[in-house]
Amino acid sequence: MGWFFAAVLLGVLLLGLLLTHRLRRSRRPDEPPLDKGLIPWLGHALEFGQDAASFLSDMQKKHGDIFTIQAAGKFVTVLLDPRSYDAVLWESSSKLDFGQYARILMDRMFDVQLPDYDPKKEKAMLKTTLQNKNLTTLTQAVSFNLRTILLDSSKVHGQWEEEGLFHLSYSTMLRAGYLTLYGNESKNYEDVSSQAKDRAHSLEVYQRFYELDRLLMKAARSNLTTAERKKITICKQDLWKILSVEKLNSRANRSVWLDSYKQHLVDLGLDEDMQTKAMVLQLWSTQNNAGPAVFWLLLFLLKYPSAMAAVQGEMEKILKSKNRATGKVDWISQEILDGMHIFDSALKETLRMTAAPFISREVLQDMSLKLADGREYHLRKGDRLCLFPFISPQMDPEIYEEPEVFKYDRFLNSDGTEKTDFYKGGQKLKYYTMPWGGGLNVCIGKDFAINSIKLCVFLLLSSLDLELKDPKAEIPGFDKERYGFGMLQPDKEVIVRYKRKDQ
Ligand code: HEM
Repeated sequence: MGWFFAAVLLGVLLLGLLLTHRLRRSRRPDEPPLDKGLIPWLGHALEFGQDAASFLSDMQKKHGDIFTIQAAGKFVTVLLDPRSYDAVLWESSSKLDFGQYARILMDRMFDVQLPDYDPKKEKAMLKTTLQNKNLTTLTQAVSFNLRTILLDSSKVHGQWEEEGLFHLSYSTMLRAGYLTLYGNESKNYEDVSSQAKDRAHSLEVYQRFYELDRLLMKAARSNLTTAERKKITICKQDLWKILSVEKLNSRANRSVWLDSYKQHLVDLGLDEDMQTKAMVLQLWSTQNNAGPAVFWLLLFLLKYPSAMAAVQGEMEKILKSKNRATGKVDWISQEILDGMHIFDSALKETLRMTAAPFISREVLQDMSLKLADGREYHLRKGDRLCLFPFISPQMDPEIYEEPEVFKYDRFLNSDGTEKTDFYKGGQKLKYYTMPWGGGLNVCIGKDFAINSIKLCVFLLLSSLDLELKDPKAEIPGFDKERYGFGMLQPDKEVIVRYKRKDQ
């Protein structure tokens, strides 16, 4: 027992020493401005968690484009000048590591612990499963699955229905994305009875996923109430049952991505329970962005008739030029998808305004950070470094005129080609919008996501008459707790009316 008390006493003393050291931390001359906030240890944690975009914009006004804040005992250096992002994005992982924080979040949000987790290696291995010939297979599969979900032949034609646009977009993309990556009931996409089973099963997945998604931000910040903790546990348990390795093994048309990831988990030596938990984590990683992206894009198109006319005009032209019946989305080749420049610009503009991931790195050793303008700052081991491209470049008025206004052709030159020249301080920017992250953190599903979004919007607009229930309704604000986690979600639903077009 004596040993035990001595160990506890030593632990308390060490913690006390650490805390006093941290509380006393003051800025050294070669460090970024330091803002510890008023509350010891907690610092700015509350403002940061409640509305990171407003809080960081205020800090930027006060301190400039690099500063260090204290939040829940952690010191976070925030860099907001895109001209200097390369110094962070490509720095060696022995200095700036992105695995450590990812590991913390995986555990807090999904109860996943991966021994020897190496995100760089994992990404390199999985990247090929979503690209080249695998991309062609995935795109074909998602095209079939979108039709299964959206063109339910058992529904009566010609009747107007009302639904929330966010719910419509998120559920359609998640259900089609899930079926594409995790497989179908049977091999034959055209089989009517297995389509019905796919619809019912994917709806169940979506319902559980959506309940989980509501609580994940709080879980990431360790902010759940007791009741919420119980609820999130039930959601996860339901999903673990649905996505158990055994059940997944029996599904048809599983993607190469799924089988490779599964094998990777086996190679890591994980038991089946942990493999299943990792499958739920991946369901969220791969599906939580594309649905909200479709929502914002459709909403902007519905609110800006000139943008809708331009996008629909391009769709019709492409389909006609390929000698296809207008409005029928069969298999569309990569060449056609890549030729949709107006759509690409409208999507980029949508993501510029609504994608807000943090790019975070743990500082593993004392080091210096050299900014593009020649300034050099010392970073301390144990701190975190964070980029927030949503503030700059994406919503930076120096780079984009009226950044809060949706301009579908912002990324088009006058000759219809892609516009890539954007400037800050007279310097042409390499990173002028970063919805997909950047450097070692870049999204490996980008091409598949873009194809899926295009096909979904194509199919929706060509097969449904879709309109806002209240055309005067304002574009909703953002659910502020989602800053830092990828695509933003609206703080309220937008009701739309739709009916199947007469074919
Ligand atoms: C609009 C849609 C999407 C956006 C804006 C988006 C954005 C991002 C971002 C910013 C990251 C970097 C996260 C980080 O490393 O910190 C990421 C990672 C990733 N994305 Fe996407 N993504 C989208 C859709 C997809 C889709 C459809 C897939 C499907 C296969 C996908 C697969 C992945 C994977 C596997 C990772 C790596 C996750 C990890 O490191 O654990 N993404 N995505």
